[in-house]
Amino acid sequence: MPSKHHLLLIHGFPLDHTLWQPNMEALARVAHVMAPDLLAFDTAEDVPAVLTMEHFAEQLKAQLDANGIQRTVLCGLSMGGYVALAFLERWPERVSGIILCNTRSIADTDEAKQGREATALDALAKGSAVIARAMVPKLLSEQTRSTDPELAKNVEAMIARQRPEAIAAASRGMALRPDRTHVLRATDTPTLIITGENDALMPLPTSEAMATAAPRSTLVVLPHAGHLSNMEAADGFNTAVVDFLRVLAEGEH
Ligand code: MLT
Repeated sequence: MPSKHHLLLIHGFPLDHTLWQPNMEALARVAHVMAPDLLAFDTAEDVPAVLTMEHFAEQLKAQLDANGIQRTVLCGLSMGGYVALAFLERWPERVSGIILCNTRSIADTDEAKQGREATALDALAKGSAVIARAMVPKLLSEQTRSTDPELAKNVEAMIARQRPEAIAAASRGMALRPDRTHVLRATDTPTLIITGENDALMPLPTSEAMATAAPRSTLVVLPHAGHLSNMEAADGFNTAVVDFLRVLAEGEH
């Protein structure tokens, strides 16, 4: 039997590792899973004014090194996808596959950059709970919010417990990221692109464009799901990732 892949799950903004709670059991059956926290909401460490995607990628590389992990499959949702692409650009030899969920490879528009600064200022002035309330309707589809209010409550609590300084720093960091479509075009790494049919933040053409750019890609669109497709359509999401890992393992043996 082929050996298990390492799978590094990289959460989105402004969330934490509990984003992956609906996926852990299914994925741990087929891979060695790591799901670190990027924003370190539970420590007292000082937060820099800006947390760039490159900074997060370096942090993850250090964790892989510390655990003696040479190669891994990266799986990033939204901001986690930005980080995964920054990692792939810098250390392609460490990546055995890449899963990009509800994300994009292009840079922010000027208008989006202004929105990032407004979010940073709001987080610092009004606190994380205000950001949480404003974000939930954008993160979850209308259908999810009406059929699973418990999930909506959990996501709101997840955001509300992040530190405002970390939210501000990551928001400013996202604004600085470059277009990394060329990284996708140049990679020979097997690529899975997953999105939600009703993702209000990343419309379907964004994922289609990434699928076109990446030479060895598969695109999976999960019906009824919004931006947090791994939570909103967990069964479909898990199946897509497990199938991808299986094909990857078969290709290597
Ligand atoms: C995320 O879910 O990580 C963010 O919505 C990404 C973004 O704002 O671009």
